[in-house]
Amino acid sequence: MIEVMELTKVFNEFIAVKNLSFQVNPGEIYGLLGPNGSGKTTTMRMLLGLLQPTTGSARISSHDIREEIVAAKRVMGYVPEEPVLPERLTGWEYINYISDIWRVPRGPEREDDIQELMNLLDISDASDDLIETYSKGMSRKISLVAALIHKPTVLILDELQAGIDPRGAATMKEILNGLRERGATILMSTHILEIAERMCDRIGIINEGELIAEGTMEELRLKAKGQSSLEEIFLSLTGGPDMQLIAQYLGESA
Ligand SMILES: Nc1ncnc2c1ncn2[C@@H]1O[C@H](COP(=O)(O)OP(=O)(O)OP(=O)(O)O)[C@@H](O)[C@H]1O
Ligand SMILES: [Mg+2]
Repeated sequence: MIEVMELTKVFNEFIAVKNLSFQVNPGEIYGLLGPNGSGKTTTMRMLLGLLQPTTGSARISSHDIREEIVAAKRVMGYVPEEPVLPERLTGWEYINYISDIWRVPRGPEREDDIQELMNLLDISDASDDLIETYSKGMSRKISLVAALIHKPTVLILDELQAGIDPRGAATMKEILNGLRERGATILMSTHILEIAERMCDRIGIINEGELIAEGTMEELRLKAKGQSSLEEIFLSLTGGPDMQLIAQYLGESA
């Protein structure tokens, strides 16, 4: 379970995350949605112990991130927004290196697990290639393998599906659904509203660091007074494009 309790992050004087509270239950996929710069990555980085909260706290499987971050980290798997990967290792070497860090016992079981995940994500053909040759989507896929290899029960996925082809996205969806059925707690951010709509049990919409709406699609629809698609709900809550400025720009450049 992820319990976020009045988390706030201030950078210099800028409030990136403001009094944020929400909960993600075991067996649930929670989608964090919000405009660019609204505080999604900052929130995730605090949950992972990569950033110190200014105030507030959170618990990961009942481990307080301020007091027991090592225990919390052990149960978490994370795919960052921009994975930093060791370019001079092959995919296979990298995953084995990560497995060693997590102390996953070496042996056939571990190798089978790695192979299986790589097969599923269509990257096994590239497992002996250097990571520097990987495409953007392949880098995200190998990051997902790295995040899953120690069998975490809490997953934090920051724009996992960005740049992933439809087959890869469908595979990821099935993998995440399977993990959810086995009781995993999954927090994901995405700008692909269709993915959020189809995959998430509940959605939290964050704007300027604050949670402005939360619920199932049904509950959000009610809140947004009859707007039917997630795109309409999202735009009605966070503001749509500035048509006047766009018209002005197009007029000027004509
Ligand atoms: N280390 C930092 N120092 C100063 N400001 C930061 C830092 N990290 C993030 N911010 C600011 O905090 C705000 C929230 O950033 P964050 O990366 O959390 O947004 P996001 O919701 O993940 O956006 P996106 O959808 O573009 O990924 C932004 O205004 C960003 O500039
Ligand atoms: Mg982000």
